[in-house]
Amino acid sequence: MTENLIEIRNLCIDFNTSKGKVKAVDHVSFTIKKGEVFALVGESGCGKSSTAMGIMQLIQSPGVISNGEILFENQDLLKLPHDEMTKVRGRDIGMIFQNPLDSLNPVYTIGSQMMEGLLVAQMDKKAAWQIAFDMLRDVKLSDVESRMKSYPHEISGGMRQRVMIGMMLCRNPKLLIADEPTTALDVTIQAGIIELMNELRHKFDSSVLIITHDFGIVADIADRVGVMYAGNLIEAGEVFEIFDHPKHPYTRLLMKALPTITKSEGRLKTIKGSVPNLAEERPGCNFADRCPQALAQCRVRKPVMQEVGQGHYCACFLEEGVEGGCIVK
Ligand SMILES: Nc1ncnc2c1ncn2[C@@H]1O[C@H](COP(=O)(O)OP(=O)(O)OP(=O)(O)O)[C@@H](O)[C@H]1O
Ligand SMILES: [Mg+2]
Repeated sequence: MTENLIEIRNLCIDFNTSKGKVKAVDHVSFTIKKGEVFALVGESGCGKSSTAMGIMQLIQSPGVISNGEILFENQDLLKLPHDEMTKVRGRDIGMIFQNPLDSLNPVYTIGSQMMEGLLVAQMDKKAAWQIAFDMLRDVKLSDVESRMKSYPHEISGGMRQRVMIGMMLCRNPKLLIADEPTTALDVTIQAGIIELMNELRHKFDSSVLIITHDFGIVADIADRVGVMYAGNLIEAGEVFEIFDHPKHPYTRLLMKALPTITKSEGRLKTIKGSVPNLAEERPGCNFADRCPQALAQCRVRKPVMQEVGQGHYCACFLEEGVEGGCIVK
C-alpha cells in the first residue's frame, strides 16, 4: 500500500464571532497518500478553505485550531515551532489561492517572483533564472523571455494562474494545495489549467489537495474525494466509487445540483433549505433538516464515519451497521 504523506486527524477549527463560536471544521479526518490527488468538495461555507488554511497554519484571528493532529510525514505540524512551520510552507507544502492576483506581488516582475524562493534557498542567480524560465515553459506560457519581465497586471488571469502553479512547483513541494484554482477563470481556460495540473502532477510526483465545487474537475484530476457538509466530512472514497455509488443523501443531492465542465446545459437543481448556523450546537446530524430521508435518530445523535465499502466511508445512519467510528484511511 502507498504510504501516507499527510494524515489529518480530528481537526477542529473555530471562529469566535460576536454571534458565538462558529465550528467551521468539526473533527475532520482524512489522509492523502504520496502521489495522490485528493479533492474536497461541498457547498459554500462548509469549511473547505478553512481545512486547507488549517493545514498551512494560516488561520487568522478570530479563528483557532482547537483540536487535532496534522501528521505530515509522521510529524505533527501543529506541534512545530513557528519558524519550522514557515520552512515547511516554503519547502514542503505549497498553496495556490483562489485569486492569483491576490498572491502575486504587483510591484515585482513575474521572473523575479519566480526566482525569489530559489534565491532564498541559496541558489545562484543564473541557475535560478534558468529554473524559473524552464518552469514557465512547463506551465505552457508562450514567449517566456518577455513574460519573465512582465508585471502581474500585464498578463491574463489564466496566465497568472499558470505562473502561480509554476511558482509553487519550482520549489518541488511534496504537497500542493489548490483552493478553487480555476473558479476565477472562464471555462476553456479552466479545462487547460486542469489538464496542465494533471500533467505536472505526474512529472513532479507531488500529492495534491484540490478544493472545488465542480464534480467535472474531480472526475478529471482526483483519485479520491471527500465531501464536506457544515464543517463535517460526511463521505469519502475513490472518485468513481463515489460517483457510481454515492451513499450519503447529501452527496447524491450535491452531485445533481452542482455544475460540471461537461454538464452546463439545463437549470441547476438546488438543495432545499440552507446550511445550518454553525454557531449553534445541535445534537444530531447537521444535514437532518434538509435530508429527504432523515430518521428520528438523525436529530438525536451525530452519525460517525463508517467504512461502508472498500475504502468508502460514510457518516449516515441509513448506512450504519457497525457501531463506533473510524478514520478515513
Ligand atoms: N474570518 C472568519 N471569521 C468568521 N467566520 C469565518 C471566517 N472565515 C470563515 N468563517 C466561517 O467558517 C465557515 C467555513 O468557511 P470556509 O471559507 O472554510 O468555507 P468554504 O467551504 O471554503 O466555502 P467557499 O466554497 O465559499 O469558499 C463559514 O461558515 C464561514 O462563515
Ligand atoms: Mg473556500
